[in-house]
Amino acid sequence: TPSSEHQAESAVLSQAFVDTKHAGYTGTGFVDYVNTVGGYVEFSVTASTAGPAKLTFRYANGTTADRPLAVAVNGTSVATPAFTPTGAWATWQSVEVPATLVAGTNTVRATATTATGGPNLDRLTV
Ligand code: GCU
Ligand code: CA
Repeated sequence: TPSSEHQAESAVLSQAFVDTKHAGYTGTGFVDYVNTVGGYVEFSVTASTAGPAKLTFRYANGTTADRPLAVAVNGTSVATPAFTPTGAWATWQSVEVPATLVAGTNTVRATATTATGGPNLDRLTV
């Protein structure tokens, strides 16, 4: 199955907003999580077949502290990657999360777990 790209700025957002002020994003912008627990970005991902998939999140974290996001697929928690510092807000890196998808539509939600919110999120590639 070819990989599909899902821009964060086109996802469903809660306590998070679209911004463009740091260079290097793909698409038309990136998402900035408000600095609070519980904000999320929820992608809708269509899979042609059920089974294992790799969720690749492209992000930036210009601070010196982790910005962990709880990743849930179809409402079930799968991992909470750290989203470690990238050195600058315009420096983007990728984090990979293995997951299992169902055939058809899946939700992939990435929720901020600390009071500092999440990293800036550019896109999800599946
Ligand atoms: C800065 C930065 C934002 C980032 C924020 C944060 O304000 O410009 O892009 O989201 O820090 O710490 O979350
Ligand atoms: Ca933020």
